[in-house]
Amino acid sequence: MMIPISIDLPSSVTELHVGRQLLLSDLPFNLCKKHGSQVAIITDSYIKELYGKALAEQLGAQIFEVPRGEKAKAREVKYRIEDELLASGYGRDTVIIGLGGGSVTDLSGFIASTYLRGVPLILIPTSLLAMVDASIGGKTGVDTVLGKNLIGTFYPPKAIISDLDTLETLPEMEKQNGLSEIIKMGLIFDPSILSELSKTESLEVLVRKASQAKISVITQDPLDRGLRRILNFGHTIGHAIEAVSRFGISHGEAVAIGCIAESYLSKKLGYLSQEDFLQIKEIYSMHLKPLVFPGNCSPQALLQAMLVDKKKSAQGVRCVLLDQIGRSLSFEGQYCKVVEEKDFKDTLSYLEAHYA
Ligand SMILES: NC(=O)c1ccc[n+]([C@@H]2O[C@H](COP(=O)([O-])OP(=O)(O)OC[C@H]3O[C@@H](n4cnc5c(N)ncnc54)[C@H](O)[C@@H]3O)[C@@H](O)[C@H]2O)c1
Ligand SMILES: [Zn+2]
Repeated sequence: MMIPISIDLPSSVTELHVGRQLLLSDLPFNLCKKHGSQVAIITDSYIKELYGKALAEQLGAQIFEVPRGEKAKAREVKYRIEDELLASGYGRDTVIIGLGGGSVTDLSGFIASTYLRGVPLILIPTSLLAMVDASIGGKTGVDTVLGKNLIGTFYPPKAIISDLDTLETLPEMEKQNGLSEIIKMGLIFDPSILSELSKTESLEVLVRKASQAKISVITQDPLDRGLRRILNFGHTIGHAIEAVSRFGISHGEAVAIGCIAESYLSKKLGYLSQEDFLQIKEIYSMHLKPLVFPGNCSPQALLQAMLVDKKKSAQGVRCVLLDQIGRSLSFEGQYCKVVEEKDFKDTLSYLEAHYA
């Protein structure tokens, strides 16, 4: 006998705040008060000194420190922080704040989603990439030896606070990583993002628009069935470049080269005009540092890497394609297409010839 059960899950509305002077304003305090009575801040050793201590003092919170960068997303770090939270007596009335780049926000989200079966989460992203990408969409996770982000949950934060003042200490290379994802959002979904790129003083607009664009994509495809795939534009080839170069290239740079390559592919397959393709190349040369294709990335090695990537389907390697700047092709709601090996080979040879 089947007994139908319907459960009304509490709504998962996320408040997004983008602006300046937010970190030490009343906002974090009020949000914490609204969602709990104890506050635990998870942050990395560097952000702790820059912003964490001042925030902890303001909120009367304790800091739980993780290593900088991707090392924060080791499974052992999650266990250690959980044990420290338990030992410090943090109960179900705890609000967890994830303060830092995408590594910290991914880890903090995962911890908040499983700690005592889930406690409220507030994210305060401090890198451009975390503001426009990692903090949005509720994906949390840690890495395993078999791959990145393989263990995790979907757990939307109660609020995201993007304080642009924190970007002042962000190294240029990290800014480029965020910028690369912002340009991608412009190419796949909202071309008005691209026109903001050249305007000075428009960082706030840019962060707001890029965040909004990702939110729109996700809310139109909450179950990850189609439209969300457009967020992978540039990543089929980008991930292969990262893997073959053994991460000798930043994610932003790999994705930027990947976006140019997948735009070339869109043109080659007859969907994107030559004018749009040239304009896309121009956008990258104007707004990102010169892109350099890593020396050890032969077309053969990249193809091999794509074949083992998780975006491969039974039919072959799939790609998101554009039919104009700001618009991804739907392919009957799939938003990606299996690309033949010869077309990939041609695209990868183009990269080798133009960016090596
Ligand atoms: N959940 C998602 O949907 C999603 C989406 C995209 C990326 N991600 C994840 O995000 C991670 C990458 O995030 P990232 O690019 O922010 O890198 P990161 O979190 O590894 O941070 C990079 C470095 O920048 C430093 N930093 C951060 N903010 C700073 C600031 N304001 N001033 C000075 N230094 C600062 C950090 O200390 C760190 O050393 C990856 O693990 C990736 O998987 C997740
Ligand atoms: Zn990316």
